[in-house]
Amino acid sequence: MSEYQGVLHRYSEMLHLPPGTRPITLLEGNTPLIPAPRLAEQLGGGFELYIKYEGLNPTGSFKDRGMTAAISAAVGEGARVVICASTGNTAASAAAYAARAGLRAVVLIPQGKVAAGKLAGAIAYGAQVLQVEGSFDDALQIVVEISQKHPICLVNSLNPYRIEGQKTAAFEICDRLGTAPEWLCLPVGNAGNITAYWAGFRQYDALRGTGLPHLLGVQAAGAAPLVLGHPVERPETVATAIRIGRPARGEQALQAAEESGGRIIAVTDEKILSMQRLLAATEGIWVEPASAAGLAGLAHEIATGRLRVRSQRVVAVCTGHGLKDPDIVIQWVSKPLSIPPRIDLLEEVLAL
Ligand code: F0G
Repeated sequence: MSEYQGVLHRYSEMLHLPPGTRPITLLEGNTPLIPAPRLAEQLGGGFELYIKYEGLNPTGSFKDRGMTAAISAAVGEGARVVICASTGNTAASAAAYAARAGLRAVVLIPQGKVAAGKLAGAIAYGAQVLQVEGSFDDALQIVVEISQKHPICLVNSLNPYRIEGQKTAAFEICDRLGTAPEWLCLPVGNAGNITAYWAGFRQYDALRGTGLPHLLGVQAAGAAPLVLGHPVERPETVATAIRIGRPARGEQALQAAEESGGRIIAVTDEKILSMQRLLAATEGIWVEPASAAGLAGLAHEIATGRLRVRSQRVVAVCTGHGLKDPDIVIQWVSKPLSIPPRIDLLEEVLAL
């Protein structure tokens, strides 16, 4: 039996990477596609629901698939420094892969708007972390400029190799189900992920006839430029991962959704948070808020009769682990009840 070696190795013939690429891997990918029958029932039932749990990648988010490709290409091209703007997950992933490659990593994050687990990751992996007094969009603008001016490799999803590596998630879903599902729902922020899924499904379909899903892309209502049709100057949402007002690949995302016969919609923070809770409580899968957006959108579309999924297969992409953003959940309860170590008191509290 051959040992698993990461997405570049597994799908090498499918990925367009530059000659001389030197694989830098943390054995990312190969994440589980978990059936979610109890949640499907809650959403009305009569269809198959699967969670593509991308929070189980090495740094806790889907970003590792694209990052292994971007850093491997950068090393092959002789880069010494990589840079990105990030709402947190890209930063942690870039920092980890850069560390493994022996590169210097510089990450720019929007001040005060990055979840604790992501910031901690970027610091732990040894990146130089800079807070920008502005939004993700402001940070992205200056990292793009500096990478054009100096020999610093940009590893945001504007980097085409990020998209190449990210396509592997679509390949895995087809490999596991045999064909593409009828619907794929996922959160949309800077729009690299939805662009990559569509490219991946199309490539697999052309090669293997696996078919194409309809895409349901979901933004947060306070950060929904693709739904509103114009940039959002001051995006706001509790799902800080997708707090983005000018998505770099917005046009491609809209085109992908349209070509697929799907759409991009927005849901409120309230719906995102209640889906985060429902998923954890019904299926034992704890994801960060942004990662529940795709499912919140699915629930909304089914409940309003805009989406019929009877007898179909639906895959929801859950992009990041719940541990990335513990603070959100701790707010659910005031403080756990504290008791002395006595069985009679325990029996009383448990009403036994
Ligand atoms: N879900 C999570 C957990 C994310 O971190 C992101 C993006 C998305 C969804 C949206 O993906 O940008 O490809 O549309 N996070 C980026 C970051 C912006 O910097 O970590 P997208």
